[in-house]
Amino acid sequence: MSNIARHIAIIMDGNGRWATERGLRRVKGHERGAEVVRTLTTHASNHPEIEVLTLYAFSTENWKRPKMEVDFLMRLLNNYLKNETETYIRNEVRFETIGDISRFSPALQEQIARLKETTKHFSKLTQVLALNYGSQDEIARAAKSLCEGGEEITIESLEKSIESSRFGPVDLLIRTGGEQRLSNFLLWQSAYAELFFTPTLWPDFTPEELESIIDDFKKRQRRFGGI
Ligand code: FPP
Repeated sequence: MSNIARHIAIIMDGNGRWATERGLRRVKGHERGAEVVRTLTTHASNHPEIEVLTLYAFSTENWKRPKMEVDFLMRLLNNYLKNETETYIRNEVRFETIGDISRFSPALQEQIARLKETTKHFSKLTQVLALNYGSQDEIARAAKSLCEGGEEITIESLEKSIESSRFGPVDLLIRTGGEQRLSNFLLWQSAYAELFFTPTLWPDFTPEELESIIDDFKKRQRRFGGI
């Protein structure tokens, strides 16, 4: 039986380079990147296998960027969630997030809550945006809460306490932009994920390339530690 790409996670890298190569400001790359998020999510919602698409939209490290770029990303995200609400509804996509959004503006937090509420009954695809997300922090917080509750730390108890575990293990983890690292993304859930690194910059990533990666994924032997 071939592998099923139930949960796909993507590290969307290369927006800045895409823009710089064209003599544009970096934020133009993020703008184009948001369009690719829409195209890919729509494609995934019509895919027979994909149930969860987790996208790394803002890491805990991204606050280190110039304030102007951080502000732009926040505005872009807010506008995206507002303007694309119809797209979520039309494609029956449930919107979810992982990460600590308490540092975001009240307006953005409200927008996030509104879209979650509007889309909570949909089940064709769950799109999970990782926002102010860091995997080590999430694992440490889960361990701390187990200790404080006097519970034993086991794989099962940790699994239940890690916020992002509720979306299940990652089958296929893709990173665009040519770097080959995980950058603190879904470390627990990717224990047995198949990894794919493509040099394509995120604004150039297409549903066709996703399909060719899924084809390749299907040919890989997943043994989960067995033989
Ligand atoms: C990495 O590119 C990308 C980000 C840090 C942000 C990801 C954001 C988007 C794809 C657009 C907004 C998302 C939504 C959901 C509306 P980079 O800037 O690190 O690129 P570089 O490595 O070429 O500098």
